[in-house]
Amino acid sequence: MSQTDPQPVQYLADYRPWPFVLSETRLDVTLAPRDTRVRAELRLTSQKAGADLVLNGGKGLRLMSLTIDGQQPDPAHVIRDDERLTITAAALPPGTFILATEVGIDPADNTAFEGLYLSNGIFCTQCEAEGFRHITFYPDRPDVMTTFAVTIRSGLPVLLSNGNPVSQGPGVAEWHDPWPKPCYLFALVAGDLVAVSDRFTTRSGRDVALNVWVRPGDQDRAGFAMQSLIKSMKWDEDVYGREYDLDVFNIVAVDDFNMGAMENKGLNIFNSKLVLASPETATDADYERIESVIAHEYFHNWTGNRITCRDWFQLCLKEGLTVFRDQQFTSDMRSAAVKRIEDVQALRARQFREDQGPLAHPPRPDHYEEINNFYTATVYEKGAEVIGMLQRLVGGDGYAKALDLYFDRHDGEAATIEDWLKVFEDATGRDLAQFSRWYTDAGTPIVEMDEDWQDGSLTLTFRQSTPPTPGQPVKPARVIPIAVGLLSPNGDEVAKTRVLELTEDGQSFTFDGLSVRPVVSALRGFSAPIILRRNMDDATRAFLLAHDADPFARWEAGRELALSALTTLSTGGEAGSDYVAAIGALIAEEGTDPAFRALSLNLPGEEEIATRLASLGHTPDPDAIHAARTDLARRIALAHEPLLGRIYDEMAVTGPYSPDAASAARRALRIAALGLLGRIDGGDRAAVLFGAAGNMTERMAALGILLRLGRGAEAISALHDEFADNRLVMDKWFSIQAMAAPPQDAVAIARELSARPDFDWKNPNRFRSLLGGLAANHAGFHAADGSGYGFTADWLIRMDAINPQIAARMSTAFETWPRYDAQRRDHALAALERIASVEGLSRNTREMVSRMIAGGR
Ligand code: TRP
Ligand code: ZN
Repeated sequence: MSQTDPQPVQYLADYRPWPFVLSETRLDVTLAPRDTRVRAELRLTSQKAGADLVLNGGKGLRLMSLTIDGQQPDPAHVIRDDERLTITAAALPPGTFILATEVGIDPADNTAFEGLYLSNGIFCTQCEAEGFRHITFYPDRPDVMTTFAVTIRSGLPVLLSNGNPVSQGPGVAEWHDPWPKPCYLFALVAGDLVAVSDRFTTRSGRDVALNVWVRPGDQDRAGFAMQSLIKSMKWDEDVYGREYDLDVFNIVAVDDFNMGAMENKGLNIFNSKLVLASPETATDADYERIESVIAHEYFHNWTGNRITCRDWFQLCLKEGLTVFRDQQFTSDMRSAAVKRIEDVQALRARQFREDQGPLAHPPRPDHYEEINNFYTATVYEKGAEVIGMLQRLVGGDGYAKALDLYFDRHDGEAATIEDWLKVFEDATGRDLAQFSRWYTDAGTPIVEMDEDWQDGSLTLTFRQSTPPTPGQPVKPARVIPIAVGLLSPNGDEVAKTRVLELTEDGQSFTFDGLSVRPVVSALRGFSAPIILRRNMDDATRAFLLAHDADPFARWEAGRELALSALTTLSTGGEAGSDYVAAIGALIAEEGTDPAFRALSLNLPGEEEIATRLASLGHTPDPDAIHAARTDLARRIALAHEPLLGRIYDEMAVTGPYSPDAASAARRALRIAALGLLGRIDGGDRAAVLFGAAGNMTERMAALGILLRLGRGAEAISALHDEFADNRLVMDKWFSIQAMAAPPQDAVAIARELSARPDFDWKNPNRFRSLLGGLAANHAGFHAADGSGYGFTADWLIRMDAINPQIAARMSTAFETWPRYDAQRRDHALAALERIASVEGLSRNTREMVSRMIAGGR
């Protein structure tokens, strides 16, 4: 048992407004690595007679002084505990007063990267969700919004905070943010930084100075981030009518960061891997991700900052909507069809996995212990899918009207999911009472579809059910939009896409006046985040893969064909010839987008095969899955060797590298072909490409192939020699070795890597590279002897002592443990219990581990 008292569970139902109004915050920060001084002046007015003033802020704050309107209160009225400072009502004057505090804090000792910390000599902050309480005593809750005036004192050359600059003198800078904001959007940066700069003129004529701040020497890798920012600003004006609202927009890249990036008002802070890119060091996937995360954080300026969340239960109000917006942006910048398929793949890999395991929770949870554990695929990605469904149900015009009303009605407020749904009801007249279950109910609905053909009419019957999730045994029916189209046997579309709305447990829809029985293309565009089950033979799947007019449904047919083969092969059966033939026909289609062909050619991963087997009631065997997938890839290569060889040659991109979607698509198809050819050419082509390619996309792909074949040693040492002092490339170097290792060697390789002096495990990127790389090696992590679990548990325990957020996040490597065989389950449970028994384990990791243990028993 631990010494620390677990924080009581927080409940949505317990929400109460704060009994004070905070009308201004003034901060004066004197920076020093070990003793930073923060003077804070809060202008407060009590709203409720007799209310004590309770501020967040724990033992890490050294309180130097505290006054109310310049007077020291009687010490008997000032009470501190581990997490709070309380000034009793008796010590508070009536009306408005100024509370002034001065605290000392120690950024150099902050290894949790929450609050004010040092990253490579750069002072920076991370305040979402509850980091501001580590900087000063404050009402650290998102519904308390006010303007900030900030003075920074430091000898460092660049001093930044939110809002507009007021004055910049040697050793001191003043900033003022005129837009009321909650403290989780506060930011401060100080360091020896240089900027890549540009300008943007908003459509109403405001001239905005743009800067991407990096360490000296990194400027030549920041240009793509700047271009992405400019595109995002333009897009939000064009599509949502949203303009930027300050004179400057700053982005800073730091090496130590717990997540991807943070939308602090006017001063976004980014993990450097989501800013810095050059052809030699970043892959096409990195470029695409940089563009989308820059957009995501920029879009938060309206969806998150101007309109924020009333409380943290409403997190998906800003995150689901902002993910939805960044997905729309990427579809507009690149290929909409390809983006949709990529998003669905990611949703299934991360969110379906979460929804089907012990950590399942609704997009809007109604209780939590540690809010940082709820920055999940369910809140973000499922939150975005729910908005996509809303848009499908009310139509594009309805969606646009509702969003205009949302910005109009709630600008400057801290809103709720109820507010959000109400604007849709008011703008479109639609009743969303049943729809709101998507926000409150966890779990992925399973919809079974049956077809009945009689005298020229086709009846589709649907039955929906949602399996129980922790704390939610029974799930009422939801509104589920299912987009359906019909194809004639010659492949023509006989009925264009129509959205059927399920609202009951069981429901039928009839299509009349058909001359021949059509083939049904269902769940087009992935119109709802559900599992659709239907009886379909491989010939029909191959037909849809060849003919479906909807790109998602087309890809999905190929996916189903592959999964049907792979699940059969993994359980000892014979299968795959239909798939091998169909995929050959598809990739030979020269008129089809190479990116689409690449997505279709990549086999489902081992984790996805395991998930499918589990949902069919099998116990997945990671070694058998690995063998089945290897075998099918080899058969594809043998059957289509000349075609794959031709694609590999023809898809080579000549001329200087460009990260645009068309060039990336060609590389993606080329690499997909190379991966299959590697199954039969012994890796010879990959070895040549690794040495010859001038871009990281092809080099990393080649390296992965060589490592899988156990012949990567030379390439690994070459890459190390070339990039030993580039942290981002070295992160890839660690990660790919664990991820692509032959499963039986994976744990030993990870262990060796973890003993290296350059395994700087306190850096979140480096830690995630190695531990996340191993977790992504399905058969390696799930080694039958439990060595993958034991190794991971050791590192989680070590990390938890210095950075609880990172440990808790990485613990999700275990979230699928209940589905494996008894031997693996025993090992996994033992590892989880060992973590749970650690003295002083953080609230973050304790909550995760106990939910995983409870949900698997
Ligand atoms: N709001 C950030 C985003 O979605 C997420 C984030 C960044 C975050 N850093 C964090 C959340 C630290 C929790 C803790 O872009
Ligand atoms: Zn976000």
